[in-house]
Amino acid sequence: MFTIVKDTEKKLREKSVPVELPLNAHDKKTLLNMVEYLKNSQDPEFVEKHHIREGVGLAAPQIGLNKRMLAVYFKKDDELIVHALVNPKIIAHSVKMAYLSTGEGCLSVDSEHPGYVYRPNKVTIQAFDVIKNAPVEIVARGFEAIVLQHEMDHLDGILFYDRIDKTSPMKQDENAISI
Ligand code: NI
Repeated sequence: MFTIVKDTEKKLREKSVPVELPLNAHDKKTLLNMVEYLKNSQDPEFVEKHHIREGVGLAAPQIGLNKRMLAVYFKKDDELIVHALVNPKIIAHSVKMAYLSTGEGCLSVDSEHPGYVYRPNKVTIQAFDVIKNAPVEIVARGFEAIVLQHEMDHLDGILFYDRIDKTSPMKQDENAISI
């Protein structure tokens, strides 16, 4: 079980360092445990018992480890989307933007930050995936792309509300896709 670092802590705002490959056994175990944490967080019984919040993504700085690693776990229709990435890099992105109509949330953020976060609707990411145990190139769209970008932001100490327009948080971009 992890203690989630909250946005009241400075450590969450630090830039994380690249991870040396091949990954050491400890980091590998930690990253796989992060995936497991997300999976458990989507089990109502587990949530009730351990008083944790449901999450679809988790970055290493959120568990107090300032290394460039992140986990994503969610079901989309009947498909299970799972990533356990080391040193992820966006190598291409669409001009088309997208946003979550309900706004973004974060396990590290307990306060309310209403507003839209606009991000490219499609991203191509290169990383090392610990589950596949291989370098991967991921082409993600829509919700998956947003989650991955949100988690990658954590590796640079950026939080979703940093990207909300301060003067007009609910400003509608008519060209962006609402998800
Ligand atoms: Ni977050």
